Amino acid sequence: MAELSSSQPTKEQSPIEARQEKLLKPLEPSVIPPEKLEYARQVIEKDQAIKPFWVNKYKKEAAKNWDRFYKRNETRFYKDRHWIEREFTIFKTMDPDGHPAKLQCLEVGCGVGNFIFPVLERNPNLFMYACDFAPHAIELVKQHDDYKQGRCSAFVCDLTTDALVDTIPANSLDVVSSIFVLSAIPAEKLEAAVRNIKQVMKPGGMLCFRDYAVYDAAQVKFSSNPGHMLDTNLYVRQDGTLSLFFSTEQIRELFEKEGFTTVECEYVHRETINRAMDISIDRRFLQAKFIKQ
Ligand SMILES: C[S@@+](CC[C@H](N)C(=O)[O-])C[C@H]1O[C@@H](n2cnc3c(N)ncnc32)[C@H](O)[C@@H]1O
Repeated sequence: MAELSSSQPTKEQSPIEARQEKLLKPLEPSVIPPEKLEYARQVIEKDQAIKPFWVNKYKKEAAKNWDRFYKRNETRFYKDRHWIEREFTIFKTMDPDGHPAKLQCLEVGCGVGNFIFPVLERNPNLFMYACDFAPHAIELVKQHDDYKQGRCSAFVCDLTTDALVDTIPANSLDVVSSIFVLSAIPAEKLEAAVRNIKQVMKPGGMLCFRDYAVYDAAQVKFSSNPGHMLDTNLYVRQDGTLSLFFSTEQIRELFEKEGFTTVECEYVHRETINRAMDISIDRRFLQAKFIKQ
């Protein structure tokens, strides 16, 4: 989902400058007032899952629907994710000589490469694997002007069923990023995905995670229009793609059970303003860092 900004332009700033300034600031720890959280909880609790036939159908067709999404939108939907390096400074690590560190990285669910190309440009010593289960997305990554052998390698992979070790040496990666990807996977398949990722990480390697959090405005919107809920905190969008909303407890448990240590796992918040409707929207995300033991 595209991130919106609520910056009010000052007299000296154009709206574009105000938006850029806002996007450069780190997100704040969650500060949604308790009464708004309580309202969200009540709306969500009243919602009910749709019929099992449809739940199974949407879960089964997730890969096909993401592929259609990229066939339709190509590279137009997501903006470049420059903020990832701001929030996860490991990508800016320097070696003892003051040069950008040689890092072996993987972006899971890379989409069309909105993170990998900006980070490759800034760190000439970084190698990036990138995978996604949507073949159209991977094709678009490979067609990018900056897709160069020796710097990156993109491949089709369903994290829940295809072993990453078939493409990436076991225990070899310094950093893995998972940005709004596990939310596209039903809860019962998450353990398999995390175990798969762990196999290709070095002991001491870091996993950087950002995703949707429970009581995010998008979840309240789903539950306000019944007919989207598949399971607890899992919804289907109009285009058939899935969206799961996480709690910090759930994500911590998922990674710690697979042998990761939690460095950080917290809710972060951004208030956005929909000027057309004159309403403020509370986006709530979950940001975390885990280390493989
Ligand atoms: C919301 S998009 C995020 C894309 C990208 N990480 C970004 O932040 O721009 C979710 C991505 O996860 C991919 N995805 C969902 N389930 C997957 C799975 N089981 N294995 C691999 N990729 C998956 C989708 O195809 C889609 O590209």
